[in-house]
Amino acid sequence: PFPFYRRMREQAPFFRDPRSGVWSVFRYDDVQMALSDYERFYSGDGEHDPDEMGPGASIIGMNPPRHRKMRDLVSRAFTPRAVENLTERIRGIVQELLRDPLRERTMDMVRDFTYPLPVIVIAEMLGIPTQDRSTFKAWSDAIVASTDNHATGFEATQAMSAYFSGIVQERRHNLGEDLISRLIAAEVDGEKLTDAEIISFCDLLLVAGNETTTNLITNAIWTFSEHPEAWERLRGEPRLLGPTIEEVLRYRSPVQAMFRRVRVPMAVGDAMMNPGDTVIAWIGSANRDEDKFADPDRFDPDRKPNPHIAFGYGIHYCLGAPLARLESRLALETLIDQGVRGFQPQLPFSEWEPVSGFIVQGLKRFPVSLMS
Ligand code: HEM
Repeated sequence: PFPFYRRMREQAPFFRDPRSGVWSVFRYDDVQMALSDYERFYSGDGEHDPDEMGPGASIIGMNPPRHRKMRDLVSRAFTPRAVENLTERIRGIVQELLRDPLRERTMDMVRDFTYPLPVIVIAEMLGIPTQDRSTFKAWSDAIVASTDNHATGFEATQAMSAYFSGIVQERRHNLGEDLISRLIAAEVDGEKLTDAEIISFCDLLLVAGNETTTNLITNAIWTFSEHPEAWERLRGEPRLLGPTIEEVLRYRSPVQAMFRRVRVPMAVGDAMMNPGDTVIAWIGSANRDEDKFADPDRFDPDRKPNPHIAFGYGIHYCLGAPLARLESRLALETLIDQGVRGFQPQLPFSEWEPVSGFIVQGLKRFPVSLMS
């Protein structure tokens, strides 16, 4: 999509699709504005009054003041500290998933590793009992696949919500250290989360946290397969992992686009943006904007500063960013520690299968051999 984005940044930075009436914005400053200026652009599906959505509404579709309250509450439970405390457990999960592939030296990076990893980590965070893990994973699979099959996705979402509802009941009687218990306990100014709010937050974590993290790690390996020198350098200097992951986030942003709706009329050149119009904020284009990033199409782990907006910008800034960063760091660190010298794709480029749709950038499968 990158040559297309560049053309749009140059020729039609605010573009209205004449058929659908949907607006697209492409330049860094405009994308940042659309994402963060909630007085002019609101989040949510637009079918309801944005500030009065029902109990099942999720934080990502909320607007101030309701969003602020919800965000305060969930941030009490989902803290960077709580994430950091998961480090050793995540490392264990990574090692377990990589054990066989490291012996066989060949794997489907997605199927065997980057896909299961975030699902298991979330199950762990939520304290899903071991005997329920496989059912949990099956639902999660169906939800991820629901871009292709809405019916099974819907059923799985229903089943999962019912399941979470049971877990919340149970935890209310027996609080633990897991995220659901922390969400139950969270309190701001005497207010607490309702069961429905906790359940919809857990549902959101699966949708917002899994496919995105899968693709961040996949995109990192994909990029290293094209830039073996970057991987070689990382092996010598693992402290470069942080900036390198940031550059992958910029260069191949897992979330390419987010939606907003227009709240107040705005003139754009000689056209009008009208209340209720849908706007696509092209994060993937913003992160390649030549006015913001020198030589934007070059993968450059030394880029400094690197103000990419792959996790969004403003009040909805990704709550899971510390977790996504930690998981990807531990994934790459383990591959380095195990002496993997590089990644050789096992399919000709013409047979690669990108993830469907225009929102997520990543690969459906990625067979590679691990070089030793
Ligand atoms: C919000 C990207 C991983 C939970 C967002 C937004 C983006 C994003 C762009 C802003 C949405 C908007 O402005 O409308 C990513 C990427 C990830 C990732 C690229 C991985 C590389 C995660 C993980 C979790 C998570 C692992 C949780 C387990 C959330 C939540 C929000 C959010 C709860 C909504 C925050 C709010 O509305 O206040 N994410 N995300 N994300 N993300 Fe992530």
